[in-house]
Amino acid sequence: MTKTVYIGMSADLVHPGHMNIIKEAAKLGDVIVGLLTDKAIASYKRLPYMNYAQRYEIIENIKGVTQVIPQETLDYRPNLEKLQPNFVVHGDDWQQGVQKKTRAQVIECISQWGGELVEVPYSVGISSSNLNKSLKEVGTTPDVRRGRLKRLIETKAPVRILESHNALSALIAENLKSELGVEFDGVWSSSLTDSASKGKPDIETVDLTSRITTINEIFEVTTKPLIYDADTGGIAEHFAFTVRTLERTGVSAVIIEDKIGLKKNSLLGNDVFQQQDTIDNFCAKINAGKRAQITDEFMIIARIESLILEQGLEDALLRADAYLAAGADGIMIHSRHKSPSEILDFCKRFRTKHENIPIIVVPTSFNEITATELADAGVNIVIYANHMLRAAYPAMKETALSLLKHDRSFEAEQTVLSVKEILSLIPGTN
Ligand code: SPV
Ligand code: MG
Repeated sequence: MTKTVYIGMSADLVHPGHMNIIKEAAKLGDVIVGLLTDKAIASYKRLPYMNYAQRYEIIENIKGVTQVIPQETLDYRPNLEKLQPNFVVHGDDWQQGVQKKTRAQVIECISQWGGELVEVPYSVGISSSNLNKSLKEVGTTPDVRRGRLKRLIETKAPVRILESHNALSALIAENLKSELGVEFDGVWSSSLTDSASKGKPDIETVDLTSRITTINEIFEVTTKPLIYDADTGGIAEHFAFTVRTLERTGVSAVIIEDKIGLKKNSLLGNDVFQQQDTIDNFCAKINAGKRAQITDEFMIIARIESLILEQGLEDALLRADAYLAAGADGIMIHSRHKSPSEILDFCKRFRTKHENIPIIVVPTSFNEITATELADAGVNIVIYANHMLRAAYPAMKETALSLLKHDRSFEAEQTVLSVKEILSLIPGTN
């Protein structure tokens, strides 16, 4: 009887290393590729460039592949138990790093029926990580970038978004990874920090042209999706044009808040005069935006200010239903309490009615709850809305003070980036 060989693969950036593995596997028997789903890949690294259907089409057409089936988790065992293959073939690069545990599980699992793990030497000089780096250098197109947010929402929770007020801060969101390999999924163009970095109040005085200039600068050096804070969105007729501009630029989503009149920052709450819009008026604005949008991927997210303005949970839920009926693609619920309880109450009630509608939160005040805990409560997107600018300002002030105090830069040099380091941060610097 022909022997069976199992290969688990992402096959996003296909290279000769993959061909080599398939070729070696085919020498042992019929090759079944367990193609990792987008969800499985996003659970341990970034979202794949190509979706499952695209990757499937490539793999099924490779010589030596008999069958392609989905592998729904990073864990190989569910598929292995089902297929009981004679061999599992993998590159030997998984002996270290995040996949080390998976490898041990595979060995233990296939030993139950006498299966064998065959490891093919890693193809030196070619790796998905290097290809990924080169792809980032090449950049992306507005169409590809725009669609990435929806794909992220479909494949992982939480989607972590970092505020970026300029290209340099966006490079942090683009490239930073924690020790566990967690990274930010995209950036937030905050009205608060975009205006503050221009020395202006957060009252819709920085116009769209200026905001788009910043976004274009960010887009020039990054590939991740961007969510745009459009404040109230202005009047419905103007909002329609804003949607077109953002969509054309490659922005993935716009958030508009249900306030009217002179907008103030939400975290000021009722300490300043702020007025909530009527449901009908705000629905008409959402609707004008939805009618203006051209692509399927662009999202208009309705931000509810009922908790900020102390109108209560019932009002927030009522508005959520109305805004969704008007066409909103997601709901941002905001709060300025230190405790997350009102946000959690909202999520619980909202989820009983709307199973899959994205919930977005900005945990600036309720900052003890983790993004993972928020995701467990039903939140899809967590936005860290202002921390980059708030981190930069005290550091700059401290340094400026040191220059004055010591009447020279020697002391300041101990804490700032070296000139060499700052130059090497920037793509294109030799
Ligand atoms: C922003 O970042 O500008 C926001 C979030 O709108 S908040 O400042 O909390 O209102
Ligand atoms: Mg704002």
